[in-house]
Amino acid sequence: MKILNLYYSATGNTAKVAEQIEKAIRTEGHEVTTVKATKDIDLDILAYDYVFIGCGVFMWLPGKPLMKLINNLQKKYREEIKSAAPRRPGKKAIVYCTFGGGHTGANEAVAVVKYSGQLFDHLGYEIIAEWYFPGEYHGKHENLNIEGRLGKISGRPNEGDLQEIYEKVIAILRV
Ligand SMILES: Cc1cc2nc3c(=O)[nH]c(=O)nc-3n(C[C@H](O)[C@H](O)[C@H](O)COP(=O)(O)O)c2cc1C
Repeated sequence: MKILNLYYSATGNTAKVAEQIEKAIRTEGHEVTTVKATKDIDLDILAYDYVFIGCGVFMWLPGKPLMKLINNLQKKYREEIKSAAPRRPGKKAIVYCTFGGGHTGANEAVAVVKYSGQLFDHLGYEIIAEWYFPGEYHGKHENLNIEGRLGKISGRPNEGDLQEIYEKVIAILRV
């Protein structure tokens, strides 16, 4: 299988997850292309059977470079997006985010996961999983790493989280 591992990370948490995803995919013997989103890259997304797409949550939304990239790709693939979005057999996507959830927990992150998956859903990929991983705040909101709705999230994603992610990826590749 040809797999795209697309992510955006501003402070490094999602990059750790994406690295783990790449490791698990390679262990399973598949070809993987890992790409950090920037607004001006070009991607031949329909060339991939499986897509992992992940991002941190910033003010309830994905990072701007990922949003811009999705917007550009939506324009590029306009002709491929058909009414009622018929499925493309064999194409699958896994959407995830890392988030701090400091105020309202996972509710802050839902829009990011739903938004990030829509380009692929429109193109007929089946969204086979949506994952939410705690990611500690870096910078001025660090108090939320202990006072927030998720409880203590300092240091996350930690070794245990990364091991769990590795195992989830191995399992989802069998779907
Ligand atoms: C400026 C900023 C804004 C953030 N806004 C939110 C937010 O609205 N909701 C949330 O759950 N987490 C928020 N976070 C926490 C990040 O989503 C979390 O730390 C994530 O793992 C960051 O991913 P990254 O390190 O890959 O960029 C914010 C973090 C920063 C630095």
